[in-house]
Amino acid sequence: RLWRTSFAAITANDVIALSLLSGLPTKIERKTNKSNIYSLGNVKTQSRGPESPVPIMNLSSFKKLPQWSFEDIYNLDAPLIPTTCPQSLRNSKDEDFQKVFLPNICMFLHKDNFNIREWNRLSHFNDPFGFMGLKYSDVKPVVKLIPKPKEPLLLPKPGGDGCVHCAVVGTGGILNGSKMGTEIDAHDYVFRMNGAVINGYEEDVGTKTSVYVHTAHSITASLEFFKEYGYKSAPHDEVLK
Ligand SMILES: *[C@@H]1O[C@H](CO)[C@@H](O)[C@H](O)[C@H]1NC(C)=O
Ligand SMILES: *[C@@H]1O[C@H](CO)[C@@H](O)[C@H](O)[C@H]1NC(C)=O
Ligand SMILES: *[C@@H]1O[C@H](CO)[C@@H](O)[C@H](O)[C@H]1NC(C)=O
Repeated sequence: RLWRTSFAAITANDVIALSLLSGLPTKIERKTNKSNIYSLGNVKTQSRGPESPVPIMNLSSFKKLPQWSFEDIYNLDAPLIPTTCPQSLRNSKDEDFQKVFLPNICMFLHKDNFNIREWNRLSHFNDPFGFMGLKYSDVKPVVKLIPKPKEPLLLPKPGGDGCVHCAVVGTGGILNGSKMGTEIDAHDYVFRMNGAVINGYEEDVGTKTSVYVHTAHSITASLEFFKEYGYKSAPHDEVLK
């Protein structure tokens, strides 16, 4: 998915959380064999079969970045309609990029794409990137509450140039006084995250929110952190994803 980070005042953690909602790729391999993509995967870190959850791993047992011996096999969405957007990463001519880029990688977990293979892969990554330290029986019923999206999340707008124009608005505060609000809102989709302070700063940060990204921690902690800037609740736009 293409987004332009024209308004990035985001922290490293935000960037990572935003791009890696479906897990941290340590190594991406393009899979051309469809039966492999949808197979049960290849978790070699444990002797148990891939059909049962791997034993709970504990962040505190790792002293350095681990090297996993399993293959990264990702949930994929249906193939995308070709894009006419000239700047689209999907039309990149860079061979190295093409080799590792999965244009239809499934960005979000929902009740229909949650399975043991995905659970086992994500068990290798700590919060908020994965489920390390958590129990399958705790997480499964929660993910089962998340409906499958009815449509691709970021469709190009009809009548446009074929590109999907996104503004990613961070919370670092550099937009204060910037008067970028109108330009931000002119994008097809506006991403905001964590404590997205809008009230009183519309001229600088815009008003529209299309996608709101947060962690379990940030959605509650932001109420405290950003109270002094008038933050009272997460955005509530009707079209919000
Ligand atoms: C695809 O993967 C399946 C299962 O691993 C294997 O049986 C099949 O031969 C593979 N097909 C190709 C074209 O590599
Ligand atoms: C994980 O680490 C924490 C903190 O060191 C410890 O209290 C807990 O018992 C550990 N859990 C497991 C399953 O090893
Ligand atoms: C924004 O800038 C104004 C003027 O410089 C300043 O008074 C105000 O405290 C700033 N607000 C934030 C949230 O930084």
